[in-house]
Amino acid sequence: MSESSGPVQGTVHGVWRSRWVFILAATGSAVGLGNIWKFPYIAGENGGGAFVLVYLACILFVAIPIMMAEVMLGRLGRMSPVNAMKKVVKATGAPRLWGSIGWLGVAAGVLILSYYAVIGGWVLHYVVEMGSGRLQGASAGDVAASFSSLLENPQKLIFWQTLFMVLTMGVVIGGVTKGLGVAVKVMMPLLFVLLFVLLIFAAQHGDWAAGARFLFSFRSDSLTWSGVMEALGHSFFTLSLGMGAIMAYGAYMPEGAPIGRTVLTIAGLDTLVSLAAGMAIFPIVFASPGMAPNAGPSLMFQTLPVIFANMPGGLFFGTLFFVLVTIAAWSSSISLIEPAVAWLIETWRVSRATANLVIGTFAWVLGLGTVFSFNLWKDHTLAGNTFFEVMDFATASILLPLVGLLISAFVGWAMKREDAMAALGDNAVRVLKVWHWLLAYVATSAIALILVVGLYKKFF
Ligand code: PHE
Repeated sequence: MSESSGPVQGTVHGVWRSRWVFILAATGSAVGLGNIWKFPYIAGENGGGAFVLVYLACILFVAIPIMMAEVMLGRLGRMSPVNAMKKVVKATGAPRLWGSIGWLGVAAGVLILSYYAVIGGWVLHYVVEMGSGRLQGASAGDVAASFSSLLENPQKLIFWQTLFMVLTMGVVIGGVTKGLGVAVKVMMPLLFVLLFVLLIFAAQHGDWAAGARFLFSFRSDSLTWSGVMEALGHSFFTLSLGMGAIMAYGAYMPEGAPIGRTVLTIAGLDTLVSLAAGMAIFPIVFASPGMAPNAGPSLMFQTLPVIFANMPGGLFFGTLFFVLVTIAAWSSSISLIEPAVAWLIETWRVSRATANLVIGTFAWVLGLGTVFSFNLWKDHTLAGNTFFEVMDFATASILLPLVGLLISAFVGWAMKREDAMAALGDNAVRVLKVWHWLLAYVATSAIALILVVGLYKKFF
C-alpha cells in the first residue's frame, strides 16, 4: 500500500502543527494516573527492583513495537480508529473482521474514561484538601477518615467527577490544533517542572538511598509470576495502547515524520516519569516511620497526604503534587474521549461540541456506576467484584491485551511485511526488520500468554 497524501490531507479533524506537538500529546496521553498512582504502588506490592526490570523489558520488547504499529495504522487510515481500520483493512485485502480492532479500541476508551474521570475527581478533591490546609498535622487516622468520608459520599464524588469530565470536554471541544495541541504545550512542560521540583523535595527530605535501593536493586526472590503478568499488563496501560488513543493521535501525525524515533521518545519520557514518580514517592515513604511501600492503591491517596501533612513545607509541596497528578490525568483523559468523538464527527457529521457532549454524557452516566460502587452499590457485586472492579477488569485485563494482540497479529501477519515497513517512515532496514519480528513473534505470544493465564487465574 502506498501513502498518497501531502501534509494536511485526509483528516477532517486537523493535523498536529509539528512532530513535537504529536510527541507532547502522545506523552500527555501516556503519562497519567498509571505512572504516578499505579506504577509506584504495584512496584511497591511486587517488591521493587526485579519487578521494575521486567516492566522495562516489557516496554522495550512488547509495548514499543505495538505502539509503533498503532501510530502507523492511524496515520495510514487518517481517521478515527473505527474508520481508519476499515480503510486499512480494505486496502490490505484482509478479512473485514479485522476492522473490529477499531471498534473494540473506541469502546475500551469510553469505558476507561467512565472510571478514569471518577479517580481524576478524587485527585481534584485532594488538590483542594491539601491546598486548604485542613490536613495540617493530620494523623494517619485523620487522613484515612477523610478518604473514606469522600468515598462514602456520592454527591461529593459526583461533583468532582463532573468537574473532571467538564475539564476534559472543554479541551477536546477546542479541536486538534487549538484545543488538544495548545493544552499539551502548556501542560507537559509544567508537568516536567513540577516533577523536578518534587524530586528535589524528596532528595532533601526523604531517604533517597533507600528509595533508590528499593526501586533499582534486583532481588529475584521477590519476583512472582503474577508480578510478571502485572508488569506486562501495565506496560500497555501506561503507554495508552490497545484503546485507540494512540491510533487516533497517530491519524493527526504529520506525513513523513519517522514513527520509530518518535515512539521511542514518547516511551522514554513515559518511563522516565514513572521512575521519577517512584523516586519522588519512595524516599519520602522510607523516611517516615510506620509507612510501608506496599500500601497498595491507597499509597497515593492515604500514605502520601499523611507524610506531606507532617513535613516542613509539606502542605505546599503536597498541593503541588496533586496539581501535577491532575495535569497528568487530564492530558490522558482527553485522549480517552478523542477517538469516540472523532468517530461521531465522521459518521453523524455533527460538530465537535455536540460529539463531546454526547460521548461525555454517556461516559459520565456510566461513571455513576463506579461512583456508587464505593457507597450505595458497595454490596451489589458480580462474582465478588464491584461495578468498578468489573469495569477495571474488563478493560485493563481483557480488552487492552485483546486489542494489542489483534494489532500485533494484523500488522505482523495479515499485512504484507513490505507495506507495514514502508508505512513506518524512514528507519534503517535492520530496525524495521527487528520491529516486525518483535511484533509478529514476541508481542503476539507474550500477550496471548497473559490473556490465557490471566483469565485462567481469575476463573479457575
Ligand atoms: N496511559 C494513561 C495512564 O498511564 C492511561 C490511559 C489509558 C490514557 C488509555 C489514555 C488511554 O494513566
